[in-house]
Amino acid sequence: MKILGIETSCDETAAALLEINQIGFKVVNNVVLSQTKIHKKYGGIVPEVAARAHVESIIPVIKAALTVNSKLQFSQPDLIAVTKGPGLITSLSVGAQAAKTLSYVWNIPVVGVNHLEGHLWSFLLNQKSTIQNRLPAVAYKLPAIALIVSGGHTELILVEGFGKYKLIGQTLDDAAGEAFDKVAKMLSLGYPGGPVIAHFAKRGDPEKIKFPRPMLDSADFNFSFSGLKTAVKYYLAKVVPQGGFSQAFINDVCASFQAAVIEVLTAKTIKAAEKFKIKSVILGGGVSANENLTQNLKLKVQKLGIDFYYPEKWLTGDNASIIALAGYFNFKKNYPAQGSGKNNWQTLTTEANLQLV
Ligand code: KG4
Ligand code: ZN
Repeated sequence: MKILGIETSCDETAAALLEINQIGFKVVNNVVLSQTKIHKKYGGIVPEVAARAHVESIIPVIKAALTVNSKLQFSQPDLIAVTKGPGLITSLSVGAQAAKTLSYVWNIPVVGVNHLEGHLWSFLLNQKSTIQNRLPAVAYKLPAIALIVSGGHTELILVEGFGKYKLIGQTLDDAAGEAFDKVAKMLSLGYPGGPVIAHFAKRGDPEKIKFPRPMLDSADFNFSFSGLKTAVKYYLAKVVPQGGFSQAFINDVCASFQAAVIEVLTAKTIKAAEKFKIKSVILGGGVSANENLTQNLKLKVQKLGIDFYYPEKWLTGDNASIIALAGYFNFKKNYPAQGSGKNNWQTLTTEANLQLV
C-alpha cells in the first residue's frame, strides 16, 4: 500500500510517499520545502505569507514526493493522508484542498490527520524499525507517556493505543518551542530559535545563570514557559553589557535557558511515568531535535527500567512521512474492512474525516 502524506499546517510545505507492507514501513520520498527564509525577516511566521507560499509550492512538492525514478513517472498512491489540524487555518486549507482534489481525480480515499498524532508516532519511522526489520506491532510497548514538544504545543499524553489518548498535562501559556523562538529573538539570533540556541548552548555554562524552573514542583502535569521567557528578558535588560552581548555571554544565556526548559520537561515526564505505571516514554515534535533533551530524558527513563522512543532528527520537525503513517493507522482503524480498493471513497472519507480543526 502506498500512502501520499501532505503537511501544510505551518511554514513547511511537505509531501511524502510511504510504502507499507506486512513487514513494515518504507519512506520512499520525504520532501520538505521550508519557508524559513521567507519568514526570517519578520522574526516569526506570518500566516498570510505562509498560505501564499504553500499555494505556490504544493504541486511541485507533491510531484517530487510521487516521483519514484528520474524519468518523472508518477507513482499513484492508494491513500492520501493530510494534516487537518491543529495549525494555521489558511495554511491547512491549501493542503486539504490539494488532498481532496487528488482524491477526487484518482478516486482514492483521503483521511485527515491530527498533526500531534503524526509527531507522537514519528519514532516508528526510524531506520531501525522500518521495512527491513521488525513488525511495528512488536516494536514498541504500551501504555506509554508521550511528551509532544513543538512550536505550538507542549503536551503530556497517556497513550494506550492508536487513537486511545488521555491528555494529562499541557502548557498553560507558551509552548516549549515558542519559548526557544522568543528567547532567540531577544538575543537577535533569528528564527527559528531552537536550533541556534541549542548550538550556542553547547559552548555555554548551563549553571551560570539561575533561571526559574516554572511549575517544577506543582502537583499537576502542566507546564508554563512564559515566566521563564520573561525572566530571560529581565535578565538581559538588567545586565546588558557595554557594546552589546559578547559571544560568551550569549552562550551562557542559551545554555542556562535551555537547561531550565529541559529540567522541567524531564521532571514532569518522569513524574507522569512513575504515576501511571507505563511501559515506555515517547518523545516527539520539533523540540525533540534537541540532543540535550533526548539524552537527559533517555537517562532518566532508562533508570526507571522502561523503554524510551524518540524520532531520528530528520523526523522531528514538520514533515509528511509522519502524517502518512498516522493516516495509515487512522484508515486501518476507522475503515478496517475497506482495504485499499478504489471505490467511491470521496464521500465516505472526506466528509467524516477531513474536518479542519
Ligand atoms: O514540530 P515543529 O517543527 O512545528 C510545530 O508543530 O510547531 O516544531 C518547531 C519548533 C520551533 O519552535 C523550533 O524552534 C523548535 O521546534 N526546535 C527546537 C530545536 N529544533 C527545532 N527547539 C529546541 N532545540 C532544537 N534543536
Ligand atoms: Zn509540528
